[in-house]
Amino acid sequence: MEKELPNYCRIAPDVKLGRDVRIHGFVNLYGCEIGDETRVGTFVEIQKGAKIGSRCKISSHTFICEGVTIESGVFVGHGVTFINDRHPAAITNGGELKTDSDWHCQRTLVKEGAAIGSGATLLGGITIGENALVGAGSVVTHDVPPYTVVAGNPARILKRNWRGVACNAGIVGAASNSPQEISDIVGDNFSADDPGASR
Ligand SMILES: CC(C)(COP(=O)(O)OP(=O)(O)OC[C@H]1O[C@@H](n2cnc3c(N)ncnc32)[C@H](O)[C@@H]1OP(=O)(O)O)[C@@H](O)C(=O)NCCC(=O)NCCS
Repeated sequence: MEKELPNYCRIAPDVKLGRDVRIHGFVNLYGCEIGDETRVGTFVEIQKGAKIGSRCKISSHTFICEGVTIESGVFVGHGVTFINDRHPAAITNGGELKTDSDWHCQRTLVKEGAAIGSGATLLGGITIGENALVGAGSVVTHDVPPYTVVAGNPARILKRNWRGVACNAGIVGAASNSPQEISDIVGDNFSADDPGASR
């Protein structure tokens, strides 16, 4: 962790920071973990229970909530919003203020090497696969397969086999995989006749 923190950072004592984490001004971090050499931009909030791996870049104005796990080497753009409560409400049916025991936290996993474009919103309970790329401004409602580019609202597949390899799925260094191979590898939740699938 940097020895001298910039002014106007609120980093609670229960935050676990790895080695050489770089934190810019005006962040609000509490009860979270941040791995070695990760960079956290201005006006980022990371809630309790969130875990960020090593060598990630979290760009300014992003909100990372409880229930989110981000593996290593992940890029998160500016103003990205994670969601963990699918049916939010301020009060109970009886009109009382909701408490921590009145809701269910949905968990989200962003796997190694993925990138989330600026302004994206990620619904809770989903997994963004290894090295997947989420387009700017997307609203992601389903799991995103590894090595896939998605964009739009709701996010649809633009490209498969992004970066040309699917090494974590067992095909190492292949320049290109057939649609069947990709389908076998990713087993995705997106329909094969998705209107965006061939673009
Ligand atoms: C999604 C993305 C990777 C696609 O880039 P690309 O592979 O070069 O694709 P193209 O620009 O050729 O776009 C392909 C199609 O998808 C559409 N598209 C591209 N990005 C889109 C987005 N974010 N949301 C919705 N549609 C998008 C394009 O309009 C195009 O549609 P068309 O064929 O009907 O015209 C890119 O547009 C993007 O959003 N990157 C994230 C950038 C970012 O947020 N960086 C953060 C730090 S600055």
